[in-house]
Amino acid sequence: MSQWTDQWRDFVRKTSYKNSLAEKKMSNDQFWRSYGIYDQALMHSGYPGEALAKISSFIAPKTTLLDIGAGTGAFAIPLSKITSKTIAIDPSQYQLQILLEKAEKQSLTNITTIEKEWKDVETKEIGSNVDYSLAAYSLFDEDIEGFLSKMIDITQRGIFIVFRANGSDTLNEFAFGPRPYADYICLAQILKDMGHRFDEMLFTRNYSMPIDLVFQQYRFCSKSKEELLGHLSREGRLLDRDDGKWAKFQATDALLYTIR
Ligand SMILES: C[S@@+](CC[C@H](N)C(=O)[O-])C[C@H]1O[C@@H](n2cnc3c(N)ncnc32)[C@H](O)[C@@H]1O
Repeated sequence: MSQWTDQWRDFVRKTSYKNSLAEKKMSNDQFWRSYGIYDQALMHSGYPGEALAKISSFIAPKTTLLDIGAGTGAFAIPLSKITSKTIAIDPSQYQLQILLEKAEKQSLTNITTIEKEWKDVETKEIGSNVDYSLAAYSLFDEDIEGFLSKMIDITQRGIFIVFRANGSDTLNEFAFGPRPYADYICLAQILKDMGHRFDEMLFTRNYSMPIDLVFQQYRFCSKSKEELLGHLSREGRLLDRDDGKWAKFQATDALLYTIR
């Protein structure tokens, strides 16, 4: 245990969406069902953007990819056009169902899914031939060393981790108050303490989003819609467009990677 693993555990427990699960007594799957606009939000935010392009450039054709916490397939779907086999792991049936619908629409037949948290997946379910593994905004495990070492041990050629590099949006602090924070530096330090050196790249996205999607993202906070609008307006982040109010955001994604 180190200050970094403590920081990550506090972030998962008190700040990440896992905190909402505990507070609202919801299952992981219920959370993602209640956030059905996830893909719409991604579309407006330009995610996965350059991080996907960079990862694609590292992946050799006819290989096997493990996407841990694959969600609706932001990475798994496009990367499966390169791989011969992709295993998408996610504890949410709802998220995996959306992923599989996308795969079908694009005639991708090389994706299999495992509906579990990463810690509960057994090696025999995956097989021993994993060339690449990826976890993008999905490392929601209080035992982060266990999560990472399982991922590293099973992978033969390349490991990719995507997580935020920007500070917390001021809207988060306004909406939820001060909470424990963690970003990619915390993950990089944990990896270093475990004896692994990963390379780093940062990619910034500037984007705007319809205000209704923003309200959806902040549906569990204690502030009213008017208060959220007030904060965005004070920061000069509101746009009045013909199709209604939109809000401006900036996000930076970090890619931590190692190629063997
Ligand atoms: C923010 S989404 C990211 C999805 C996708 N990787 C992307 O970049 O769009 C997080 C996903 O991780 C999944 N997840 C959360 N904790 C997980 C765990 N311990 N193991 C595997 N997946 C997990 C959630 O169910 C959710 O679908």
